[in-house]
Amino acid sequence: LTTAAIALALSVTGQSAFASCDEGEIVIKFAHVTNTDRHPKGIAASLLEERVNEEMNGVACMEVFPNSTLYDDNKVLEAMLQGDVQLAAPSLSKFEAFTRQFRIFDLPFMFEDIEAVDAFQASDAGQSMMDSMQRRGLQGLAFWHNGMKQMSANVPLIEPTDADGLKFRVQSSDVLVAQMEAIGGSPQKMAFSEVYGALQQGVVDGQENTWSNIFGKKFFEVQDGITETNHGIIDYLVVTSTEWLDSLEPEVRVQFLTILAEVTDVRNAESFAVNQQARQSVLDAGGEIRELTAEQRQAWVDVMMPVWAQFAGDVGQENIDAAQAINA
Ligand code: LMR
Repeated sequence: LTTAAIALALSVTGQSAFASCDEGEIVIKFAHVTNTDRHPKGIAASLLEERVNEEMNGVACMEVFPNSTLYDDNKVLEAMLQGDVQLAAPSLSKFEAFTRQFRIFDLPFMFEDIEAVDAFQASDAGQSMMDSMQRRGLQGLAFWHNGMKQMSANVPLIEPTDADGLKFRVQSSDVLVAQMEAIGGSPQKMAFSEVYGALQQGVVDGQENTWSNIFGKKFFEVQDGITETNHGIIDYLVVTSTEWLDSLEPEVRVQFLTILAEVTDVRNAESFAVNQQARQSVLDAGGEIRELTAEQRQAWVDVMMPVWAQFAGDVGQENIDAAQAINA
C-alpha cells in the first residue's frame, strides 16, 4: 500500500496514523502547551499516557502532544469540538468563551495557596463547575494543579507603581486584563507559546506565571527578575467533548476515568514540590528572585483587590465567600 492509501484506510476506520497505536484501538490525542518534565501538568500528562497505554492496551491508545506542538490553548477547545483532539488541560483562565464561572480562579489574592484551591474545587460548587459547559459540548473530568503566580518584568518590580506603563502578557482572560490595568499596566492577551519571543523582543515588558512555567519556558532569561508575589493561581481543567465521552462503552469509560482520577490524586499532591524545585532551578541558573516584605506585598493586595468587585456578578458573591472561608 502507498502511504496515501494507508492514510485513507486509517481515516476511514477513524484511526490516526500513530506508530504506537494498534488497529482498532480508541485513539486519545491529548494536546497541551507546557513542557513534559519538571512541570506539574507535563508530568501528569505523561503518567496518564503511560498508564492508559499499559492498562488499556488493545482497547485504547493515548498520544500526548506537549509544547503546543498540536494546538495552542486558543485553538484546542474548538479542535476538540470538531473531534480532532480528545483531551486537553487548558488553564482555567482559557475558558472565557465557554463559561464565566471560572473567573473566580483568576481573581487576584482569592486563594491563599493551592490547597485552598483544591478544597474549593472539592466543594459542591467546585464540582458542579466541571459540568458547567455541557450544553456547549465540553465535559470537565478533573482539576489539575499548577501553582501560585509570580510577576516579572524587564525592570525590578517591588512596588505596584513599578508596573506603571509596562506592557504585560496575559492569558486570554478579562479578569487578568483588569488586574494588569489595576496596577497601571497595559495588558496584552497572547498564547503561551509566544511569550518568550515577545519578552525577548520587547513586544511586552513583563508577564505573570508559576515557577514551573517561568523555569520551563526560560522567561527568567529575558526578564530583569522575578518578584515572588504569589498573587494568583494557575490551575487546569482536564476536559473532553461530551460527544466523545458518550461514545465510549461504559466499562471503557469507567476504566479511563478511574485511571485519570488516580493520576490526578497522585500528581496534584506533588504540584507544590514541583514548583518549588523549579524556583530553585531558576536560582541555580542565575535568575534573580525578589522577595517582598509583608508591607510591600500588602501594597499589591490593595491595588489589585478592587478587581473583585468588577467580576462579583459573574462569579457569584456566595462563591467568593466560600473561597474566603477556606482561606480563613
Ligand atoms: C499560560 O498560558 O501562561 C499557562 O496557562 C500555560 C500553562 O498551561 O500552564
